[in-house]
Amino acid sequence: MPNVKKLDILKPIVALCKRRGFIYPGSEIYGGFANTYSYGPYGAQLKKNIKDLWWKTFVEKRSDMLGIDGPILLHPETWRASGHLDGFSDMLVDCKMCKSRFRADHLIESYGLQAEGKNLGELTQIIHKDIKCPKCGAKDFTEVRHFNLMFHTPMSKTGASHEIAYLRPETAQAIFLDYKNILDTQRVKIPFGVAQIGKAFRNEITPGNFIFRVIEFEQMEIEYFIREADWKATFEAWLSEMLLWCNLIGLKKTHYHTEEHAQEKLSHYSKRTVDIVYDFPFGTSELYGIAYRTDYDLKRHQEYSKINLEYNDLEHQKKFLPHVIEPTFGVDRTFLALLCDAYEEEELESGEKRSVLHFSPKIAPVKVAVFPLMKKEELVPVAGKVFRTLQNNFTCEYDDGGAIGKRYRRQDELGTPFCITIDYETLENHTVTLRERDTMKQERVPIDNLSALLMARL
Ligand code: GAP
Repeated sequence: MPNVKKLDILKPIVALCKRRGFIYPGSEIYGGFANTYSYGPYGAQLKKNIKDLWWKTFVEKRSDMLGIDGPILLHPETWRASGHLDGFSDMLVDCKMCKSRFRADHLIESYGLQAEGKNLGELTQIIHKDIKCPKCGAKDFTEVRHFNLMFHTPMSKTGASHEIAYLRPETAQAIFLDYKNILDTQRVKIPFGVAQIGKAFRNEITPGNFIFRVIEFEQMEIEYFIREADWKATFEAWLSEMLLWCNLIGLKKTHYHTEEHAQEKLSHYSKRTVDIVYDFPFGTSELYGIAYRTDYDLKRHQEYSKINLEYNDLEHQKKFLPHVIEPTFGVDRTFLALLCDAYEEEELESGEKRSVLHFSPKIAPVKVAVFPLMKKEELVPVAGKVFRTLQNNFTCEYDDGGAIGKRYRRQDELGTPFCITIDYETLENHTVTLRERDTMKQERVPIDNLSALLMARL
């Protein structure tokens, strides 16, 4: 194995993402638009692979799960009922001198002081007394105030408050709004779950760390409807499923951990929350979460919509509001964790350097690259034929430009697990070289066996 050097990896990862077309800064030709990103060709494919594998694992392979694709814009009353209009806010403070904006609790905690459980007045007092602006050093802050994180937009020209639409800050509510339709149209029995993948938006006060905290992101969420008595066992079962998922996508077991939320830090809807945290280069932070939302959401929607949302349990002759366990996964944070986990700069025995993404083959955006050794007319048609055949089953890339070593390096940076080279021996005995990304070992394989062999290894 080559000598592996772990680096301060976020900077080179951001550079690689731009250079290779995984992630571009948003609206770059206009000078950028802060904290927005665009997923380029390889990024879009990697993201799709994450979402497809998640859907297959948690929807298609389970008989107790259904999938939906709900709207981003939900009836404004949704957010009153869900508690987001009143409760989905952070505490904000501005430096009057340099106009920098901070989350008050983070600012106080960065001084080793206690912010938890304090009201706005107490937080303001601490900041005015003890804290200097980390950007300009001034001691001149505004009062601490609540800042709602939901983006909103007027639906009509009048801008009246009942015509304000909110961009959903979580996909979950679309599931709660469809819950009755699912009961009425699908043959479901409790316990069952509804899954959704989609965009969510948050006007974060302190976005940053690349795609870790952004204002527009994607969630993969499950609302799992249960009897109240089953909540503890179901919570544990889903937490185990989430840890299996981390393993399935190839994250190293030593890099992720579980973290129980303290009672005073629970969201307004949760009775228990556990985060799966990941050791990102900038610190250990939330990757996923699982919450016991009780019957909070259905109860509130029943109250606000005045529609009965009870489940009719024919077996036990009982009607009740189901309770909910919610496993939630961020797509963008999965993407970032995969990049951090997979990225390595290696020094080879020859002294040459290569950067490589050791993606699991299940996730890698390109599975196989096909090269003719040289751009010669005897080799190119054979390589083209191998490429077109493999394209039927795998995401493939064809490359006939430049030195073969450079072509391998390019694929290493994309995380392509296998490269196939067609050379002059191919013309004689119908075999090709198959090169494996991590070991860089090459073997000769008959063309006729290629698809089956790759299928077994991918
Ligand atoms: N429905 C529950 C919910 O939304 P959350 O912990 O606020 O819970 C769920 O968000 C997941 O969404 C997080 O675990 C994280 O992966 C992702 N996420 C949340 N805010 C994000 C942001 N600003 N940027 C990127 N991902 C975010």
